[in-house]
Amino acid sequence: MSEQRIVLVTGGGSGFGAAICRRLASDGDLVVVNDRGADAAEAVAREIGGESAPFDVSDSAAVNVAVDSVVARHGRLDVLVNNAGIAPNRPEVSARGLANGMRRMNGEPIEALAATSTLSDEAWDRMIRVHLYGTFYCTRAALRHMEPVRRGAIVNLASIAGLQSIPGAPDYSAAKGGIVTFTKSVGGEVAGLGIRVNAIAPAYFDTPLLHTMTDEQRAMLTMRHASGRMGHAEELAEMVAWLASSAASFCYGEVHTISGGYS
Ligand SMILES: NC(=O)c1ccc[n+]([C@@H]2O[C@H](COP(=O)([O-])OP(=O)(O)OC[C@H]3O[C@@H](n4cnc5c(N)ncnc54)[C@H](O)[C@@H]3O)[C@@H](O)[C@H]2O)c1
Repeated sequence: MSEQRIVLVTGGGSGFGAAICRRLASDGDLVVVNDRGADAAEAVAREIGGESAPFDVSDSAAVNVAVDSVVARHGRLDVLVNNAGIAPNRPEVSARGLANGMRRMNGEPIEALAATSTLSDEAWDRMIRVHLYGTFYCTRAALRHMEPVRRGAIVNLASIAGLQSIPGAPDYSAAKGGIVTFTKSVGGEVAGLGIRVNAIAPAYFDTPLLHTMTDEQRAMLTMRHASGRMGHAEELAEMVAWLASSAASFCYGEVHTISGGYS
């Protein structure tokens, strides 16, 4: 029987993260469930027989302590899933976007969306910190343990927002675009050691991240998926499980979309 893998999933208390934890635990992995919400991490960890590790991925020192303590307890870290994230939550921008959609359909001139011109320093900083800094901090801490043993897999959650134009969320798009190129760079850097770093760029999935959307927004977005629906977190978790496994042995520094045919 093969050795049980030690896996760390960030943002594992909800949505994709919880589905990924369940999926990997069902493969027999020992899953360490991170979330900045301690109760959420604990609940998922209890359900799957894993461990909880509450910390904020944008806190460099906390990340180092947490990753080092996983390795101190279990001797190694085989898989890291950088999943923790936050949504751009700006209802006024979304409302202007919807109104512009109606204007376009009626052949009327659009109004300024003003997503970028009204974005605060704090909102920009927070978005980049959680996604891009968080992914960097966790990856760095993990590689310090993976490089000496020349093995490991890292899966990063990017987004189609990091690959194509999604007007209205410049901070989120920049953070996810950064994760895309970070993945390609680090993936190439450590490929020769046998460490696989890859990313997934999903379109829209029905998780709590989208629960602040209005029904109208959801309907507009759903229409853009050829599948006629948004994705389910379990469908995303399948792709993570595959990328984290030796079945994806020829994937290095790649970005895979899972989009239900979104255009
Ligand atoms: N749902 C989608 O349609 C979609 C699409 C593309 C990409 N994504 C990305 O997938 C990832 C997961 O999203 P989700 O839809 O499951 O969202 P979610 O809100 O359901 O879950 C995100 C989890 O991350 C945790 N988190 C947030 N900031 C954190 C931090 N600083 N430190 C630790 N934990 C933190 C939250 O507490 C939450 O439990 C995110 O990176 C998101 O940007 C989601």
